Amino acid sequence: MSAAQKILVVHYSQTGQLSRLVQNFIAPLQNQDGIDVHTVNIEPCEAFPFPWPFWRFFDTFPETVHLKPKPVIAPDIPDEDYDAVVIAYTVWFLSPSQPITAFLQQPQTRALLNGKPVITLIGCRNMWLNAQEKMKTLLAANGAHLIGNIVKTDACGTAASFVTTPAWLLTGERQYFKNLPAAGIGEAELSDASRFGRKLAETLQSGAALDETLFRNMGAAKVDEKLILSEQAGARSFFLWGKLLMAAGNVSPLLRRVLLAVYVVFLIALILTVVPLSALVKMLLRPVLRPWLERRKHYYSLPSGE
Ligand SMILES: Cc1cc2nc3c(=O)[nH]c(=O)nc-3n(C[C@H](O)[C@H](O)[C@H](O)COP(=O)(O)O)c2cc1C
Repeated sequence: MSAAQKILVVHYSQTGQLSRLVQNFIAPLQNQDGIDVHTVNIEPCEAFPFPWPFWRFFDTFPETVHLKPKPVIAPDIPDEDYDAVVIAYTVWFLSPSQPITAFLQQPQTRALLNGKPVITLIGCRNMWLNAQEKMKTLLAANGAHLIGNIVKTDACGTAASFVTTPAWLLTGERQYFKNLPAAGIGEAELSDASRFGRKLAETLQSGAALDETLFRNMGAAKVDEKLILSEQAGARSFFLWGKLLMAAGNVSPLLRRVLLAVYVVFLIALILTVVPLSALVKMLLRPVLRPWLERRKHYYSLPSGE
């Protein structure tokens, strides 16, 4: 009898939403002949709060964006030759969450991932393009080979989730606004993760190679082209202000706090004025931008495709 195929699944979830996504993904792989699944929950040395206090939430962005995360406890992972690794992560400030970045930066992670096919499973509000670019560099630094990406986003659209998601993160209540839809990923989308787990199980059992075709034509990673330019602008702003805030913090924590307050006010003003204006400009420029947007959309949807 040939040895079982081993799948390692790594994740970090604050509210349990991403854990449910992971659970649904791995359900079809569990109790299957010839497949062993090992699931690991990454634990920060010092837990991040939930719900988030207002200032703590915003003060977390500079280090998150610059991939300088708070440390995590080295996970106890059996030293096996895994056939595939699933990295399930949430997005924080257009970047992978700090605990997942910290895990991917631990020296011992390279031994686990080097030369291995990796699948990313993202559960976030709806802005994941820039985070996945950073994930690609973190995976490449570990010698891993990205073969698939599955993305599940919040049920209510961009406009509603713009207030419902922060309200959830800052109060802990999914239904903070009684007249708006609940924050978070919808039940149907959470359950849909099992479709991808089933495909992985079938592929492993058929003995076919694990490669980029694994989740093709399954609607794994849908790209909202309307968010491409907003993400680019947001990422640039976070990068520059993040650098400034970290430098200010080296001078004095008070200076960092004052600048952070300025940035939060600036950010809110920007969102209320420039964002609707730029949406209008983008709408007018869409015919000119279309070929470029289509190319970017295709690029971001890889390797699994829409
Ligand atoms: C500090 C922080 C920043 C976040 N930034 C983003 C973001 O930039 N884009 C996005 O789509 N979701 C963002 N989210 C939402 C998360 O990706 C995720 O949907 C939510 O935190 C629930 O994840 P959980 O399973 O860890 O509870 C952010 C959440 C937190 C806590």
